[in-house]
Amino acid sequence: MLKADKLSKRFGSRLALDHLDLSVGAGEIHCLLGANGAGKTTTIHLFLGFLEPTSGAAYVNGQEVASNLDAVRADLAYVPEQVNLYPMLTGQENLAYFTRLAGRPTGEAARLRELFDQVGLDRTAADLRVAQYSKGMRQKVGLAIALAKGARALLLDEPLSGLDPQAANEFCALLRRLADGGTAALMATHDLFRAKQIGDRIGIMKAGRLVEHLDVARLSHAQLERIYLDHMHGRNPVARACA
Ligand SMILES: Nc1ncnc2c1ncn2[C@@H]1O[C@H](COP(=O)(O)OP(=O)(O)O)[C@@H](O)[C@H]1O
Ligand SMILES: [Mg+2]
Repeated sequence: MLKADKLSKRFGSRLALDHLDLSVGAGEIHCLLGANGAGKTTTIHLFLGFLEPTSGAAYVNGQEVASNLDAVRADLAYVPEQVNLYPMLTGQENLAYFTRLAGRPTGEAARLRELFDQVGLDRTAADLRVAQYSKGMRQKVGLAIALAKGARALLLDEPLSGLDPQAANEFCALLRRLADGGTAALMATHDLFRAKQIGDRIGIMKAGRLVEHLDVARLSHAQLERIYLDHMHGRNPVARACA
């Protein structure tokens, strides 16, 4: 569903993304880990068509992003670190507004409520102004918008930052349900624990390069942390693991 083929992006003299090869299938959650500046957001922005690649290409559902922007964006939903909603509108009004903006029919109010139900927000929350929402509630509305849009792929850029453990857990459980329904998800995060908990695969990025690609099922939390830290310290994780 999502594919990067030698995807590269240069900003002036800085190579922010260096020949990224990656694919995320339907129903799969792929987490990207890496220090600030590693190229995670650049990757997500290239998939969204916010940036044009310097070389290589990003594909969504087989279509190259840069040359099929409208079609590609119809298949995508984006959940940034801060889901921006209108604070003076209720959650349900926001959902209706952003669904229309995505060119999708909002249908009956009952349908919007059902979407709120699906993301674990109750009727009281749907009728509350977003100014009174917690961050976790706003992030859930972000997923409700993705659901309303029927997005086939989700791009999430540090959606968990600042969420308390319960809110992060609920958000991840919901993301897992979306993936189980066939949505592909690429999520940048600093949270190794959650990446291990919900990711099918984890990529570790460093200075624009994907330096490790891991199958989560084969790893313990401790192993993941050690491999991650080894990369950050410039040690060779394989050599260390064998030592
Ligand atoms: N619009 C931009 N102009 C210039 N440099 C940028 C721009 N966006 C990102 N960069 C640089 O590209 C590198 C990767 O950044 P980014 O993708 O935001 O990393 P991450 O999300 O992993 O923290 C960084 O060195 C950053 O400073
Ligand atoms: Mg970033």
